[in-house]
Amino acid sequence: MAVRILSGVTPSGKPHLGNYFGAIQQHIELQDLPGAEPFYFIADFHSMTTVQDAARRRDFVRDVAVDYLALGLDPKRSTFFRQSDVPEVAELAWMLCSVTGMGLLERAHSYKDKVAKGITSSVGLFYYPVLMAADILIYRSNLVPVGQDQVQHIEMTQDMAGYFNHTYGEVFVRPEPKLSRTPKVPGIDGQKMSKSYGNAIEMELEGKALRKVVMSIVTDSKTLEDPKDPATDNVFALYQLFGTPDEVDDLARKYRAGGFGYGHAKQALYEKIEAYFAPYRKKRAELLASLDHVDAVLRDGAERARAIAVRTLEDARKASGLR
Ligand code: ADP
Ligand code: TRP
Repeated sequence: MAVRILSGVTPSGKPHLGNYFGAIQQHIELQDLPGAEPFYFIADFHSMTTVQDAARRRDFVRDVAVDYLALGLDPKRSTFFRQSDVPEVAELAWMLCSVTGMGLLERAHSYKDKVAKGITSSVGLFYYPVLMAADILIYRSNLVPVGQDQVQHIEMTQDMAGYFNHTYGEVFVRPEPKLSRTPKVPGIDGQKMSKSYGNAIEMELEGKALRKVVMSIVTDSKTLEDPKDPATDNVFALYQLFGTPDEVDDLARKYRAGGFGYGHAKQALYEKIEAYFAPYRKKRAELLASLDHVDAVLRDGAERARAIAVRTLEDARKASGLR
């Protein structure tokens, strides 16, 4: 049976380890699921709530596109496109917000967190989950692979689909969230890694620049000799993303034994990151030299995505009496 899979990444900064281990890695793996019909997109409409510079947005869109392709997105198996190339989502978002109560949106954690962090609260920032619901519902998606922070938005999407179906008749399919094995990757300060918190390790970093960021990961103040608790340490948490089970056990033993400093652990983590992403960085450099190819992939994806979106929107228009 076909399973429609859909997810997006916002081009509001360079992709980081949290985006990879929370989302992009499983997006790539899900291409192999039997019956999978993956749809992945660059959420450039969503980026407008935080990025208000045209050149920066264009650069971030290019970064996300190149990163996905370098990490293994296969345009033959996945439909890969730019959100704004399917403007029908904006119309569907209007239909959805008209059957959605203010209370649902007022409960959004992501909105409350962003406002608490000092991001100016535009109407767009508040409306963001409605546009996200339209993204998911317009492609009749069954599974939405995301990190932990996005789960509430998918639950809100289920609610909005229910409100619309209840009001106008069954048009939308109920989507389910799908978490990766590591749905909440910590940043260098121990909070959730995020482009907007200044605590990210970007995937394209290498050499000195990468080493500098890894060395700045916050740890407690235990001395080299002290035994350490792997369960509460950020360096260890990040190392777990890369090490084999034996390597992770070995590092945990060294932590508990003492005589092993955080500097040693950081060096081991740095080497892992450098090696893990080396093939990707090579592929990325090749893609940057053939941006026409990247554009062609996105154009082709947009055409395929739009054909489906137009049909769903037509159903929603008919059901609601706009036709
Ligand atoms: P950011 O928070 O850095 O702006 P996005 O909102 O663009 O990242 O997230 C894109 C995808 O990456 C989403 O599925 C999100 O859940 C996932 N993601 C982002 N940060 C993390 C993290 N620290 N751990 C796990 N997944 C994450
Ligand atoms: N809001 C998501 C994020 O910042 C990106 C996104 C937009 C998305 N529309 C989506 C993710 C639809 C999954 C499905 O991470």
